[in-house]
Amino acid sequence: MFETKEKEVQLSAELLAFINEWKARPGNLIMILHRVQEEYGYIPRDVALSLSRMLDVPLAKIYGVVTFYHFFRLVKPGKHTISVCMGTACYLKGGEDLIKELEVQLGVGVNGTTEDGQFSLQAVRCLGCCGLAPVLTVDGEVYGRLTKEQLPDIIARYSK
Ligand code: FES
Repeated sequence: MFETKEKEVQLSAELLAFINEWKARPGNLIMILHRVQEEYGYIPRDVALSLSRMLDVPLAKIYGVVTFYHFFRLVKPGKHTISVCMGTACYLKGGEDLIKELEVQLGVGVNGTTEDGQFSLQAVRCLGCCGLAPVLTVDGEVYGRLTKEQLPDIIARYSK
Protein backbone atom coordinates (compact mmCIF):
# COMPACT_ATOMS: atom_id res chain seq x y z
CA MET A 1 0.00 0.00 0.00
CA PHE A 2 1.13 3.57 -0.67
CA GLU A 3 1.02 4.40 3.03
CA THR A 4 4.07 2.33 3.84
CA LYS A 5 6.19 4.40 1.45
CA GLU A 6 5.61 7.60 3.39
CA LYS A 7 8.10 8.60 6.02
CA GLU A 8 7.39 8.07 9.68
CA VAL A 9 7.22 11.41 11.44
CA GLN A 10 8.90 12.02 14.76
CA LEU A 11 6.26 13.35 17.13
CA SER A 12 7.25 15.46 20.12
CA ALA A 13 7.26 13.85 23.55
CA GLU A 14 4.44 16.19 24.64
CA LEU A 15 2.28 15.23 21.70
CA LEU A 16 2.93 11.53 22.24
CA ALA A 17 2.00 11.88 25.91
CA PHE A 18 -1.22 13.66 24.92
CA ILE A 19 -2.08 10.96 22.40
CA ASN A 20 -1.47 8.24 24.96
CA GLU A 21 -3.58 10.06 27.49
CA TRP A 22 -6.49 10.43 25.05
CA LYS A 23 -6.10 7.23 23.09
CA ALA A 24 -8.84 5.27 24.84
CA ARG A 25 -11.26 8.11 25.55
CA PRO A 26 -14.39 8.88 23.57
CA GLY A 27 -14.06 11.84 21.21
CA ASN A 28 -10.31 11.36 21.27
CA LEU A 29 -9.75 11.92 17.56
CA ILE A 30 -10.97 15.51 17.61
CA MET A 31 -9.07 16.32 20.80
CA ILE A 32 -5.89 14.86 19.36
CA LEU A 33 -6.32 16.69 16.06
CA HIS A 34 -6.76 19.96 17.96
CA ARG A 35 -3.53 19.25 19.79
CA VAL A 36 -1.73 18.45 16.52
CA GLN A 37 -2.91 21.69 14.98
CA GLU A 38 -1.83 23.60 18.06
CA GLU A 39 1.66 22.22 17.59
CA TYR A 40 2.03 22.43 13.80
CA GLY A 41 -0.49 25.10 12.86
CA TYR A 42 -2.17 22.56 10.56
CA ILE A 43 -2.60 18.81 10.18
CA PRO A 44 0.43 17.54 8.28
CA ARG A 45 -0.18 14.43 6.19
CA ASP A 46 2.61 12.44 7.79
CA VAL A 47 1.19 13.18 11.25
CA ALA A 48 -2.26 12.09 10.08
CA LEU A 49 -0.66 8.84 8.91
CA SER A 50 1.00 8.29 12.26
CA LEU A 51 -2.27 8.96 14.06
CA SER A 52 -4.01 6.48 11.81
CA ARG A 53 -1.53 3.80 12.90
CA MET A 54 -1.40 4.76 16.56
CA LEU A 55 -5.15 5.05 17.04
CA ASP A 56 -5.97 2.25 14.62
CA VAL A 57 -8.34 4.57 12.76
CA PRO A 58 -8.51 4.58 8.93
CA LEU A 59 -6.77 7.55 7.34
CA ALA A 60 -9.99 8.30 5.44
CA LYS A 61 -11.82 8.77 8.74
CA ILE A 62 -9.17 11.21 9.97
CA TYR A 63 -9.48 13.24 6.76
CA GLY A 64 -13.26 13.01 7.04
CA VAL A 65 -13.08 14.74 10.42
CA VAL A 66 -10.46 17.26 9.32
CA THR A 67 -12.46 18.35 6.30
CA PHE A 68 -15.80 18.36 8.12
CA TYR A 69 -14.68 20.88 10.73
CA HIS A 70 -13.63 24.15 9.15
CA PHE A 71 -11.37 24.80 12.08
CA PHE A 72 -8.81 22.28 10.89
CA ARG A 73 -6.29 23.23 8.24
CA LEU A 74 -4.58 20.93 5.79
CA VAL A 75 -2.12 23.48 4.50
CA LYS A 76 0.77 24.92 6.42
CA PRO A 77 -0.15 28.46 7.46
CA GLY A 78 1.89 31.44 6.33
CA LYS A 79 4.23 33.31 8.63
CA HIS A 80 1.46 35.87 9.20
CA THR A 81 -2.27 35.22 9.29
CA ILE A 82 -4.65 37.89 8.07
CA SER A 83 -8.14 37.29 9.43
CA VAL A 84 -10.87 39.43 7.92
CA CYS A 85 -14.04 39.67 9.97
CA MET A 86 -17.16 38.65 8.09
CA GLY A 87 -19.52 39.11 11.02
CA THR A 88 -22.66 41.11 10.32
CA ALA A 89 -21.37 44.57 11.25
CA CYS A 90 -18.13 44.14 9.32
CA TYR A 91 -19.88 42.58 6.37
CA LEU A 92 -22.28 45.52 6.15
CA LYS A 93 -19.41 47.98 6.34
CA GLY A 94 -17.39 46.46 3.55
CA GLY A 95 -15.63 43.38 4.96
CA GLU A 96 -16.16 41.59 1.69
CA ASP A 97 -14.44 44.38 -0.24
CA LEU A 98 -11.45 44.03 2.06
CA ILE A 99 -11.27 40.32 1.31
CA LYS A 100 -11.55 40.85 -2.44
CA GLU A 101 -8.82 43.46 -2.35
CA LEU A 102 -6.55 41.28 -0.25
CA GLU A 103 -7.10 38.40 -2.64
CA VAL A 104 -5.87 40.61 -5.46
CA GLN A 105 -2.96 42.08 -3.54
CA LEU A 106 -1.76 38.80 -2.07
CA GLY A 107 -2.62 36.67 -5.08
CA VAL A 108 -4.39 34.02 -2.98
CA GLY A 109 -7.96 33.14 -2.18
CA VAL A 110 -9.52 32.80 1.25
CA ASN A 111 -7.86 29.93 3.16
CA GLY A 112 -4.86 30.24 0.86
CA THR A 113 -1.23 30.98 1.64
CA THR A 114 0.99 33.14 -0.51
CA GLU A 115 3.65 31.35 -2.52
CA ASP A 116 6.44 32.88 -0.45
CA GLY A 117 4.80 31.53 2.71
CA GLN A 118 4.44 35.01 4.20
CA PHE A 119 0.67 35.37 4.49
CA SER A 120 -2.39 33.23 5.00
CA LEU A 121 -5.77 34.79 4.37
CA GLN A 122 -8.90 33.75 6.18
CA ALA A 123 -12.43 34.97 6.79
CA VAL A 124 -13.60 34.76 10.38
CA ARG A 125 -16.72 35.38 12.42
CA CYS A 126 -17.27 38.41 14.62
CA LEU A 127 -14.06 39.36 16.37
CA GLY A 128 -15.92 41.15 19.13
CA CYS A 129 -15.02 44.72 18.21
CA CYS A 130 -17.94 45.57 15.93
CA GLY A 131 -17.66 49.29 16.79
CA LEU A 132 -14.47 49.28 14.71
CA ALA A 133 -16.06 47.64 11.67
CA PRO A 134 -14.79 46.69 9.20
CA VAL A 135 -12.05 44.90 11.07
CA LEU A 136 -9.21 42.57 10.31
CA THR A 137 -6.43 41.16 12.43
CA VAL A 138 -2.89 40.27 11.51
CA ASP A 139 -1.48 37.69 13.93
CA GLY A 140 -4.09 38.85 16.42
CA GLU A 141 -3.33 42.57 16.12
CA VAL A 142 -6.55 44.46 15.39
CA TYR A 143 -6.98 46.98 12.57
CA GLY A 144 -10.34 48.72 12.48
CA ARG A 145 -12.42 51.21 10.46
CA LEU A 146 -10.46 50.07 7.45
CA THR A 147 -10.66 51.09 3.87
CA LYS A 148 -9.08 49.03 1.14
CA GLU A 149 -6.64 51.87 0.48
CA GLN A 150 -5.02 51.12 3.84
CA LEU A 151 -4.33 47.49 3.01
CA PRO A 152 -1.00 47.91 1.17
CA ASP A 153 0.48 49.67 4.21
CA ILE A 154 -0.68 46.92 6.54
CA ILE A 155 0.73 44.23 4.26
CA ALA A 156 4.01 46.12 3.95
CA ARG A 157 4.33 46.27 7.73
CA TYR A 158 4.51 42.48 7.89
CA SER A 159 6.42 41.87 4.69
CA LYS A 160 9.90 42.37 6.10
S1 FES B 1 -18.82 41.88 13.14
FE1 FES B 1 -16.75 42.27 12.87
S2 FES B 1 -16.03 42.59 14.85
FE2 FES B 1 -18.09 42.07 15.12
